[in-house]
Amino acid sequence: MGFPLIGETLQLILPSHSLDLPPFLKNRIKKYGHMFKTNVAGRPVIISADPEFNSFILKQDGKLVETWSLDTFAEVFEQNTHSSRKYTRHLTLNHFGVEALKDKLLPQMENFINLILEKWSSQESLEVKSAAIKMTVDFAAKQIFSGDLENAPFNISDMFRDLVEGLMSFPINLPGTAHHKCLQIHKKVRETMRDVLKKRLDSPTVKREGEEDLVNHLMRDMDSQKFLTEDYIVQMMFGLLFVTSDSISTTLALSFKLLAEHHVVLEELIAEHDSILKNKEDLDAPLTWNDYKSMTFTLQVINEVLRLGNIAPGLFRRALKDIPVNGYTIPSGWVIMIATAALHLNSAQFEDPLSFNPWRWKEIQPSCAAKNFMPFGSGMKQCAGAEYSRVFLATFLHVLVTKYRWTMVKGGKIIRAPIIRFPDGFHFKISHKNK
Ligand code: HEM
Repeated sequence: MGFPLIGETLQLILPSHSLDLPPFLKNRIKKYGHMFKTNVAGRPVIISADPEFNSFILKQDGKLVETWSLDTFAEVFEQNTHSSRKYTRHLTLNHFGVEALKDKLLPQMENFINLILEKWSSQESLEVKSAAIKMTVDFAAKQIFSGDLENAPFNISDMFRDLVEGLMSFPINLPGTAHHKCLQIHKKVRETMRDVLKKRLDSPTVKREGEEDLVNHLMRDMDSQKFLTEDYIVQMMFGLLFVTSDSISTTLALSFKLLAEHHVVLEELIAEHDSILKNKEDLDAPLTWNDYKSMTFTLQVINEVLRLGNIAPGLFRRALKDIPVNGYTIPSGWVIMIATAALHLNSAQFEDPLSFNPWRWKEIQPSCAAKNFMPFGSGMKQCAGAEYSRVFLATFLHVLVTKYRWTMVKGGKIIRAPIIRFPDGFHFKISHKNK
């Protein structure tokens, strides 16, 4: 269980320099097997890389376990009640789920990505991760509050970038610490979001052009849902912008790097997208839902980037009762971390697990994937933005590989602490194919 108070936190957040499992987890699993106990930031934690136990626990939400967040996450996203969580899930699915994607988001994404890549290709060198944060924040902000922050006195995407760095830091709130900076940025962004909301509440009769955005939806529900206070709405605007931006931008940046390093994969990807274009009567016709569904290899590439990227280092639950397991007992109140990264990099399920091999997905049975591959979680709490993320990434790759080529200029280092980071960035030169 490590030292008093800090337990084994330092070992857990010690940076490692590859896509592999952090040494702390790797060594513990070697020594103790697929389940062991530790102490993180003063809390006893069970870490599990056991597929059977994990899939059992993920079916126990609200029964044997409840959802839990790391301290910094909890302060930033705040713990919600059961009904408000359910509401958030429905609202997210309403605005970012399959129906919204089919009806309006897919064509909007394609147009938006076309403009973005045109801009990116005019630069000598572009740091892809920060540029992708800006892109995903801007697109999501349009859906959430119609981009009301376009004239804000600061750059919101820069703030999100700094915020992420502090999120997995050790939760000591003293000036100079990453955690302290993270909380300060969070406060400033929230104040700005509150201004957006107040302006809307002060002039509720002002009709917005086009479709209803997410904030209007929330304002409409304020009378019927008592938990929808101003604070709650501000929190939600912030939380949604955060989850849409960091996860997708990291996956996208890693895709750039892996594709640049694996020409055979890139060639097959280009062939798939060229054939989608060839089958269109009008080359300029927008992508359809059927086009997206036909991107078999692209979705295998995205699975493979998600498997290696392990954007979420684990899923967290807290035991509501004593839970017996293999002759031991997980005491009520203990935190359980489902180490999804350990499942994704398990050589028993994924041969040569560190190799970037999208073709492996041809052979993997859905029953095996269900227990061993869960980048978006699993069960009732599965990520409400999973399809949105896949469609965004697939549309981005479609525009990228049909119109552009790219080469790395500098950077490319990877650090896991345990969240994946790119310390020197991924700097690419993006050029039009036909120039
Ligand atoms: C690559 C992109 C993404 C990854 C890897 C990811 C991953 C995850 C994970 C691991 C969870 C926790 C599941 C659990 O605890 O069991 C989650 C929850 C959630 N995600 Fe995502 N996410 C991504 C993108 C998004 C986007 C774009 C949105 C919003 C549009 C979103 C909205 C949510 C919401 C609302 C939840 C809470 C679901 C609930 O409690 O019912 N995520 N995500």
